[in-house]
Order: sequence, then structure tokens, then C-alpha cells
Amino acid sequence: MSSCRIALFAVSVILLSAPVFALGSTTASGSIAACAGCHADASDRLSHSVHGRPDKRAGDHPTCISCHGKNPHSSTLPARLESTRMCSSCHRNADRMRRYGVSSKAVSSYEQSFHGRMLLRFGKKRAAGCVDCHSKHSIFVPNNSSSSVGREHAVRTCAGCHRGAGQLFAASGTSHPRLKIDRTPLLRLEEEFFKLLTYATVVLLMLVIGLDLRRKVFCAQHSPNSGRVVGMLVALGFSSLTAGLVMAILRVAGAEWAWLSAAGSFAAAFAVYATGRERRIHKPDGSKLYHRFTFAQRAQHVCLALSFTVLVLTGMPLHYADIGWSHYLHLLFGGLDGARTAHRIAAVLMTITWIWHFLFLLYRWRIYGFSSSTWTMLPTRKDLWDFSRTIAYGLGLRSTPPEYDRFQFRQKFDYLAVYWGMPIMVFSGAVLWFEVFFGNRLPSIALDAAYIAHSDEAILAMLAIMIWHLYNTHLDPDHFPMSRAWLSGVLTESEMAREHPAEKARIDAKRD
Ligand code: HEC
Ligand code: HEC
Ligand code: HEC
Ligand code: HEC
Ligand code: HEC
Repeated sequence: MSSCRIALFAVSVILLSAPVFALGSTTASGSIAACAGCHADASDRLSHSVHGRPDKRAGDHPTCISCHGKNPHSSTLPARLESTRMCSSCHRNADRMRRYGVSSKAVSSYEQSFHGRMLLRFGKKRAAGCVDCHSKHSIFVPNNSSSSVGREHAVRTCAGCHRGAGQLFAASGTSHPRLKIDRTPLLRLEEEFFKLLTYATVVLLMLVIGLDLRRKVFCAQHSPNSGRVVGMLVALGFSSLTAGLVMAILRVAGAEWAWLSAAGSFAAAFAVYATGRERRIHKPDGSKLYHRFTFAQRAQHVCLALSFTVLVLTGMPLHYADIGWSHYLHLLFGGLDGARTAHRIAAVLMTITWIWHFLFLLYRWRIYGFSSSTWTMLPTRKDLWDFSRTIAYGLGLRSTPPEYDRFQFRQKFDYLAVYWGMPIMVFSGAVLWFEVFFGNRLPSIALDAAYIAHSDEAILAMLAIMIWHLYNTHLDPDHFPMSRAWLSGVLTESEMAREHPAEKARIDAKRD
């Protein structure tokens, strides 16, 4: 009995391995034939697929053994990650793809897609790999009616994992965003718009800060409140921080070192500051206090700061998924899943704060008898003048800074930037959160448009905060290490005289 079994086993092993031994010397189509006898179905599918076409150069198209190896029966079937790597190894080869007029960006665009990041960068095995969408053997050009990703079958393909997916969702182009963007002028325009806005904003902000530092640190007439040494260290740290940001955006290696150097400079500045020898700021000057922020306003600011920080810490590692160390930020939230939950909670908190603030503004407007003077954050002609005078002062063309009112143009810019960014982030974020719901109802470019808006606006907001807000409220050598108005709600007389002289004069006139 058992010898009979052994004999059967030996025969089957020989039978199974015979075609494989024969493969070594066969041509590509020959190797399909070698398997066809027993795997008629797979062979039939492969020969009728796009991969069954004739080679222009030997080995261009995959055969059974390109994907299953020389010993298909002794190895396990390729899992999602392996098969995705397998498809990618050919499809990222630009020369090979060019011979057949196929875009080699299919791979890089997949890698940038949500699925690609999840599977390849974050090891989420549930996310779709190439085979899940294109099928394993019956692969066709997408506009072929047999293609699993073409018009006829895409809905079923996506719906296998995304319950309720419809035609528009399936045609959203989110599987290969770059391919879709390159072929859709409107999306390219959106991308260019954000790029231009980001570069213009960053250059402008850096210019104003550079001039401010020049006046405060390097001009003999002005001695910064935190002392000249602190000022120098802050200037050094700010330059490194900016260099690091620019390097990160341009994806030049070494941004981490620039940031380390910035952190070192700020730490050194703080150490010098803490010795207290040079500091004058925050020492009670025994004088009047000027009330600036109510408790409600301070609470709104805390909610905004908290939600913003969490959103950046959890969102940026997704955007920069290819930068390995960025994943460690997720550890703060217990990994990717925790980070995604935190991102959504913070998003809700930010949206509530946005609405809360808007109602607060309306309420204030009402209790002051609908007076337009309650809208203190709206830009005025004076802000334009103040801006040009500030530049002139920074360049040394004027001897005094302008007489700022209740809010400087700096603060208005900060505030209005949030109000420009908020609707963009809230709406694009909602679309990405409920991707099937919105994907089915909005035009087919909506999901990619939301991805571009959400990540590009996030980068712009992060830069504005890290450059402008960080400088004006923390690193400015007159405020270092921070202005305390956000906690106490009050400014001292000397702070008011320096930052808001016009308002101070008005208040003093009323008090007297
Ligand atoms: C003599 C018949 C025969 C030939 C020739 C043959 N196979 Fe198979 N193959 C089988 C049988 C039988 C199975 C097991 C069937 C099953 O589990 O459905 C199998 C299973 C497989 C599997 C699935 C393995 C798994 O882990 O589930 C793959 C892949 C495979 N063959 C690939 C090939 C390739 C590639 C060739 C050509 C190089 C080939 N086979 C040639 C008979 C053959
Ligand atoms: C482009 C790569 C590729 C080529 C070429 C290819 N396969 Fe596959 N095949 C796969 C992948 C990937 C799987 C496993 C998919 C999965 O896990 O569901 C698979 C699964 C199989 C299976 C498992 C049973 C099944 O059908 O689900 C068999 C048998 C098989 N292939 C045989 C063949 C044969 C025979 C050929 C040549 C005619 C061939 N394959 C060519 C990628 C390929
Ligand atoms: C051995 C290299 C090789 C492997 C492996 C390979 N492909 Fe291909 N693929 C090609 C070539 C070459 C073409 C061009 C076919 C032609 O037009 O003759 C092609 C065409 C395609 C097309 C049609 C593109 C178009 O617009 O014409 C799709 C889709 C595709 N492959 C998907 C896949 C998937 C999914 C996998 C993995 C399961 C895979 N390929 C594995 C070489 C490969
Ligand atoms: C989530 C589903 C999905 C995944 C995963 C996926 N694709 Fe696609 N692929 C599509 C769809 C849908 C199209 C049709 C074009 C479009 O809508 O972007 C397409 C188009 C293509 C094309 C044709 C490109 C062109 O020039 O039109 C190639 C080649 C391709 N995919 C290869 C791959 C490879 C290789 C992988 C894995 C690295 C992969 N795809 C992963 C869904 C997917
Ligand atoms: C193998 C299963 C699978 C298939 C097939 C699949 N997806 Fe996905 N997809 C996932 C998983 C898993 C996620 C991550 C879901 C999550 O964790 O929220 C995802 C996420 C997405 C997202 C990102 C949502 C967000 O939060 O930003 C989009 C968009 C998407 N898929 C589109 C598609 C489209 C379009 C198709 C069809 C061409 C498709 N998917 C096919 C598994 C799949």
C-alpha cells in the first residue's frame, strides 16, 4: 500500500517537474505551451491578454515563469506585495515600456497613490496591489472592454473592496493619480496654482522676516529685548530652519541636518536667555496692563493650535511616506491606525473651532450694535501703508517702524491665511474621508482635486505657521521665547507701545 503511494508520488513529481526542466531552453511562447497542457485556462487567458502579444525584444512580455519562477509547484503563489513588486520590475523599465507605447509612470503613480503608500510604505496588506485591480492573467489595455479596470468592469473591481463604489468613483483616477493629473489640464492648473502660491508666499514671508532680523539684531540703534546674543542665535536658527524647509520641499537630501542645526541654535538661544543676564522682556514694568483677548478668544486659539499640531504630525508622514523617519511620528499616536483616528478627531475639533469663532464674531457684531468696527481683522488701506513702511524701515530707508494699530498686518496675514485655508482643508478632507460617498456624486476629477488641494494647502499652511507665526510670536528677538498674550490675554505698557502704538494712544486718551 505505502510503496504504491510512494510510486504514485514519484510519478507525479516527475510529471509535474518535467515541463519545468524542459523550460530552460524554450522561448517565451514555448514556456506558456509547456504549462498549457495542464493549465489550459491560465494559458488561454495569458495568450489573449496584452501580455500575450509578440515581443519586440526577447523577454519583453511576461511568461508563466517570469511570474511563477522556474519551480512553480514547489513555491507558494505570489502574495500581494510580491506580485506588485513583480509587475513593477517590468513596468518601471522606461525603455521596455517605450517600445510598446506604455507609460512607465504607471508604477511611480501607483506608489504615490493611497493604495501604494499603504501597501508598500506602511505594510497595510489590505490595500490594493496591481493584481487586485488588473487581475492576474487577463490583463488588458484599460480601454479594452475585457479589462478589469475599463469602463465595463471597473465598478465591480473597486466595489470588491469599497462597498457601494459607482461609476464615477471607479473612474476617479485615484489608482494612478499622476497619470490622471498629467492628462487633465484642470488638475495640472490646480497643482501649478498651489505651487506658485506657496513659493510666492514663502519668499515674501522670508523677505519680511529677514529685514526684521536685520533691524533687530544687526543694527546698532536697536537692542532686542532678549539680548543681542539670543538675537544672533535666533537668526542662525531661523536661517537653518528655512534652509531645511526649502530642502525638504525640493527633496534635497540633508534637510534633517538643517533642522537639527536649527533646533540646536534655538536651544542655545534659550539657554542664553535662561541665564537671564540680557533679558528685559516679561519683567514686570510695574505699569498699566492692556487687555487684549477674552477667555473665549484664548480658548479658540488653544483649540486651533492643538488641532493644527495634531493634524500636521499625523498628516505629513502620509504625504512624505517615502521619507522613512517620518513614520516614527506616528508612534506618538500608537501607529498608523491611531494616527488616522487622531487626524479625524483633530479635524472635527478644528472644524468646530472654525464655526465657534464665526458665531463668536457674529455675536460680537450684534452686541456692539452691528458696528463695522468689530471686524478688526479685515485688512485696511493702513495695512498696505504699514507694510510698505515696514519694508522701508527694514531696508534702513526710514528711521522708525510704522505706528501699528490693534492688529498689525502681520497678524492679519496670519489670521486670514487660516481663514483662506480652513474651507479648503475642511471640504477636501471631508471628500477624502467619505471617498465613496463623494466619489460617486462629484465629477470624476473630484478625488484627485481634493488630494492636491488637501496636501498642497496643508504644506502651505505648515510653512506659514513654521515661518511666519513661529517667528512673529516666538522667535522674534523682542518676544523670545514667546509673547504671552495668548495665555494671559494682556500686554504690558512697553509691549503695547512697541507693537500697537496707535491703539495704545486711543486707549490712553479714553482712560485719561
Ligand atoms: C503535468 C501537469 C502540469 C503541468 C505541465 C504544469 N502544472 Fe502547474 N499544477 C498542476 C497541478 C495538478 C496543480 C495543482 C492544481 C490545483 O491545486 O488546483 C498545479 C498547480 C500550479 C500552481 C498553483 C500552485 C499553488 O500554490 O496553488 C501554479 C502557480 C502552477 N501550477 C504553475 C505552473 C506553471 C507556471 C507551469 C509551467 C511552467 C505548470 N504549472 C505546469 C499540474 C501541472
Ligand atoms: C504577470 C504575472 C503572471 C503571469 C505571466 C502568470 N501568472 Fe499565474 N498567477 C499570477 C499571480 C500574481 C497569481 C496569484 C494571484 C492570487 O494570489 O490570487 C497567479 C496564480 C496562478 C495560479 C493559481 C490558480 C489560479 O488560477 O488562481 C495558477 C495555476 C497560475 N497562476 C498559472 C499560470 C500559468 C500556467 C501561467 C502561464 C500561462 C501563468 N500563471 C502566468 C501571476 C502571473
Ligand atoms: C516581463 C515584464 C512584464 C511583467 C512582469 C508585467 N508586465 Fe505588464 N506589460 C509588459 C509589456 C511589455 C506590456 C506592453 C504590451 C504590448 O502592448 O505589447 C505590458 C502591458 C501591460 C498593460 C497594458 C498597458 C497599456 O496601456 O497598454 C497593463 C495594464 C499591464 N501590463 C499590467 C501588468 C500587471 C498588473 C502586471 C503584474 C501582474 C504586469 N503587467 C507584469 C511587461 C510586463
Ligand atoms: C486600485 C486599482 C489599481 C491598482 C492597485 C493598480 N492599477 Fe493600474 N490602472 C488602474 C486603472 C483604473 C487604470 C486606468 C487608468 C486610470 O484610471 O488611471 C490603470 C492603468 C494602468 C496602466 C495603463 C497606463 C496608461 O498609460 O494608461 C498600466 C500600465 C497599469 N495600470 C499598471 C499597473 C501596475 C504595474 C500596478 C501596480 C504597481 C497597477 N497598475 C496598480 C487601476 C489600478
Ligand atoms: C484589494 C482591495 C481594494 C481594491 C480592489 C480597491 N481598493 Fe481602494 N482601498 C483599499 C483599502 C484597504 C484602502 C484603505 C482604506 C482605509 O483604510 O480607509 C483603500 C483606499 C482607497 C482610497 C483612499 C481613501 C482615502 O482615505 O483617501 C481611494 C480613493 C481608493 N481606495 C480608490 C479605489 C478605486 C478607485 C478602486 C478601483 C479602481 C479601488 N480603490 C480598489 C482597498 C482596495
